[in-house]
Amino acid sequence: MKKHFELKINSRIHHLEVDPDTPLIYILRNDLGLKGAKLACGKEQCGACKVLIDGQAVPSCKLPVRDVEGMEITTIEGLGTADNLHPLQQAFMEEQALQCGFCTPGMIITAQALLNRLRYPTDDEIREALVDDLCRCGVYDRVRRAIRLRIARPLTDPAFQVIPGERSQPGAEVIRSTGTLPYSLQQNPDLDSWLRINTDGTVTLFTGKVEFGQGIKTALAQIAAEELDLSLERIQVAPTDTRYSPDEGLTVSSMSLETSGNAIRCAAAEARQILLSIAFEELEVPLERLTVKDGTISDPQTGRSTTYWDIFGGQRFGRQVTGFAQPKTPEQHRLVGQPAKNLDLFDKVTGNPCFVHDLDLPSMVHARVVRPPHYGARLISVETDPANSLPGVLKVVRDGSFLAVIAEREEQAVAAVEALRAAAQWAGEPGFPPQTALFEHLMGQPAQSYLLVDGNPVEGPLAPLETPADSVQILEATYLRPYQMHASLGPSAAVARMDNGELMVWAHSQGVYPLRTNIAQALRISQDQVRVVHMQGPGCYGHNGADDAALDAALLARALPGQPVSLKWLREDEHTWEPYGPAMAMKMQASLSADGQVIAWNHDVWSYPHFGRPRSKDGTSGLLAAWHLADPFPATKPEPSMAPEVGEHRNATPLYSFPRSRIVKHFVSNNPLRTSSMRGLGAYANVFAIESFMDELAYVAGIDPVEFRLHHLGDKRARAVINAAARRAGWQSGERIQGNGRGRGIAFAQYKNRQCYAAVVVELSVDRTSGQVSLERAVIAADAGQIVNPDGLSNQLEGGFLQSASWTLKEQVTFDEHGITSRDWDSYPVLRSPEAPTIETVLVNHPGLPFLGSGEGAQGPTPAAIANAIYDAVGIRLREIPFTPEKVQAALSPS
Ligand code: FES
Repeated sequence: MKKHFELKINSRIHHLEVDPDTPLIYILRNDLGLKGAKLACGKEQCGACKVLIDGQAVPSCKLPVRDVEGMEITTIEGLGTADNLHPLQQAFMEEQALQCGFCTPGMIITAQALLNRLRYPTDDEIREALVDDLCRCGVYDRVRRAIRLRIARPLTDPAFQVIPGERSQPGAEVIRSTGTLPYSLQQNPDLDSWLRINTDGTVTLFTGKVEFGQGIKTALAQIAAEELDLSLERIQVAPTDTRYSPDEGLTVSSMSLETSGNAIRCAAAEARQILLSIAFEELEVPLERLTVKDGTISDPQTGRSTTYWDIFGGQRFGRQVTGFAQPKTPEQHRLVGQPAKNLDLFDKVTGNPCFVHDLDLPSMVHARVVRPPHYGARLISVETDPANSLPGVLKVVRDGSFLAVIAEREEQAVAAVEALRAAAQWAGEPGFPPQTALFEHLMGQPAQSYLLVDGNPVEGPLAPLETPADSVQILEATYLRPYQMHASLGPSAAVARMDNGELMVWAHSQGVYPLRTNIAQALRISQDQVRVVHMQGPGCYGHNGADDAALDAALLARALPGQPVSLKWLREDEHTWEPYGPAMAMKMQASLSADGQVIAWNHDVWSYPHFGRPRSKDGTSGLLAAWHLADPFPATKPEPSMAPEVGEHRNATPLYSFPRSRIVKHFVSNNPLRTSSMRGLGAYANVFAIESFMDELAYVAGIDPVEFRLHHLGDKRARAVINAAARRAGWQSGERIQGNGRGRGIAFAQYKNRQCYAAVVVELSVDRTSGQVSLERAVIAADAGQIVNPDGLSNQLEGGFLQSASWTLKEQVTFDEHGITSRDWDSYPVLRSPEAPTIETVLVNHPGLPFLGSGEGAQGPTPAAIANAIYDAVGIRLREIPFTPEKVQAALSPS
C-alpha cells in the first residue's frame, strides 16, 4: 500500500507516494535521480550505498523509507556543488583516492560522518571509521591520505617517488622508425577511427580499450594530447562502441598502453603533421616555421595563426595511418611522464551517473535473474503466479533453466525474484569434491603435462627431476592457492533494448567486439543486429560476470521488445556464479651447492583452467545463460594454453639464472568450479611459490634474501628494482627489524618475464596468541619502462598490492556438498581499511623505452613478501593461501 512521504534530502523537500517498506536506495536512485549511492550488496555489508542521516553514515540498501521521514538526508550530491566542491571531494580528487570509484561516494559519506564526530581524527581512527566500507581496488591508503588532507594534516611524504632508470637498452625506442606501425594500427589503419577534430575546440579520441578504473582513458588522453600539442582538457575519450571504435579485442593482460597507447601515439603524431600541412597552405608560410600550442598553429615570424578546429573542425581525415610522422622524443615530452588527474575524478567524487548501473532510459524497466542453486541444478518446474501477482511485475521469463522476472520498479523486481526463487523446483547435484580434499583432487586428476622451454609449453616426454650429484642440500616444498573470487564491489549489470530485431546492449565488458559476437551467437541472430556500447562498471580484475549479465539483459530485452531492460545481479549470484580464479598447486625442488648457489631448480605446477572467456567456437559458449537455455549451448571445452607466459604457466619460469632447471605444467581440465582469468592469472601463485622458495633457500644457505636473489639475477633492471625497494625499506643485509613478532620480507618478479618489473617489501607483525597477521608497511619498487602517468601507475601498483594482500591473508571460495558457501562479504572476508598498511612506491622511469604493462605487476610478489615476512617474524613457513589466523596458530603450535 502506497503512502505519502515528505523527505528532506540535500536540503530540499521531496513529496513521494511509495510503499513504506521501500528501501531508501531505490527512491534516491530511481525516483530522484541521485545515482551517487550505489546498490552493491543489498545486505548492508559493503558501504557503497551509504548516505548521511542526521549526520551519521547509514547504509540505505535496506533502510525502509518510513524510518527516515523527518530526518535530514544527505547524499554525495548534497555535499558540494559542481562549482563549489566540498573540501572532502576536493581532497579525494587531490589524492586521487579512487580507481573504479564504485566505493567512492560511500567512502566520502563515511569520512564526513567521522569528521562530524571528530575534528582531528588520528590515522587509526580514520582506518577504523572505514571498517565497513569495502574497496576491492585497494585505495584505502589513499583515502586515509585524502582525509588527512581535508583536516589540514596532510602527509608530507608523497604517495610515490620517481627515480631515473639506468638506460640499459639504448635504441629500444617506442616507435622505432617511420613506417613501423603498432599492431592495433595495422588492424585498424583508418585514422578517423582513432581521433576526430571537433568544431568546439576539442578532440575526440577513440580506443578499443575500456576503462574499469585502471586509468587507461587518462593515460591515452595524455599520449594524444602530447603528440597533438594540446592541453589534456581538450581531449574527450569516446566510450568504446562496436559502431565506431577500433576493434582491439579485449582489455586484458596489462597490454593497453603497449597496444592502444602506441597506436594512438602514432595516429596522433600523424594527425598533427596532416594538420600542419593544411595550415601551411592556408597561412602560406614555410612548414618548418610553424609551431603548435594547445591546438593553435602559429608562425612566430609573421604572427599569422590558425587552429586545428578552424582548419579541420568536423572534417574526416579519410586516410589510413602510414607511420610517416615520427612521434616525439622523450626530451620533447611535457605531458607524458607527468602526473595527471584521472579524467573521471569529478564525476566519481560527485556521484554523477557514470556506471552502467546508473543508466536511465525512457520507459526503462528492471529485472533480476533466479540462478540455479548450484552448477548441477536444472529447473524442473516453477509456479509463476506468486511472482506474477506482485505489484509492478511485467513478465516472468523462462527459457529452460534460465528464469527471470521483469518489473516496473527495481525493488519490485527484487521482491519478485525472491517469490520466483521460492516457487522453483530444481534437480541435480553440485558434484563437488570435499573442500578438504581440493588439492588432492587437483593433483590427482588426469592432467595434460608439458615441459616449459623458455616459457613455452612443448609436447613430448617430461624430463626427470634435476638433482645434480654435487648438491649439498636439496629442498622440497609445495605451495597451494585455493579458488578465489574477483568479487567486484558492484554487481554485474547491463542494460539492453531490442527494437525491430536490432539489439542494443550497454555493458561493462572487457571487450565489446567479442561480446557482440557471443551475444549474437547465443540469441541466434546476426552480429550486425547487435550493437554493444561500453559503460563503466566496478573494477573487474579479470573476467567476472559482466559478460554474463550482458547476455541476461539481452535475453530479457528480447522477451520485452521496445523497452530498455536494466539487469543487475544479486550479491549472492555474484559470489556464487562468477568465474573464479582457479586453484593451483606448485611443487618445488631445488639443489644448493656448497657455496650457497642454486644449481638445479624444479617447478611442477598443477592448475584448473584459467581461460573460461566466451568464445564462439564449435557451437559452444562461455556465457552463463547460454548453458541454461532450453536449447542450450554447451560450455567451451577447456584447453591448455600453449602460448608463452599465459594462463597457468605465466611466470612459472623464474627470471633467475640457474645452471639447470626443469619446469612442468600440468593442466587439469576436470574442474569442479567455474573458472576464468583473474588478475595476474598463474603469475600470482607461481611467483608466490618461486619467491617463497627462494627465501627458504636463502635461509638454508645462510645468505641474506636480497643478496641471495641478486646473486642469481643478471638482468640489470630487475636488480635495480630489488635494490630500490630494499633501499627505500631501509633493508640492511642480515639485519632483522626490531620488535616482538615483527618481520620483514621481500619478493620480486617481472610480470610475464617481459612486462613490469616489481619488487615488494612488506613489514608486518604476528600476534602469537590470536594468529593475526597485521600488515604495517609496504614498499613497492617498479619499472614499467617509460612512465606516462606516475600517479596512475603508483595507484595501480598500490591497489594491486592491497588486493593481492587480501587474497593472501583472507580469501578462498568455500563449498560443500550443496554448493558454494561463500555467498557474500561475511562468508567471503576481504581486507578492510583498518588492516591496510601504509604504502610507498618507487617508480623507476625509463623515458624512451617501451611501455611495460603494470596493472598486474604487484600481484605476484605480494604473497611471497608476506609469507617471507611472517617467517622472519615468527619462524613459520606458510605455504597454503590464505594465511588465516587459524593457519598461523596451527603452524605456531603444531599438535
Ligand atoms: Fe574502491 Fe574500486 S575504487 S572499489
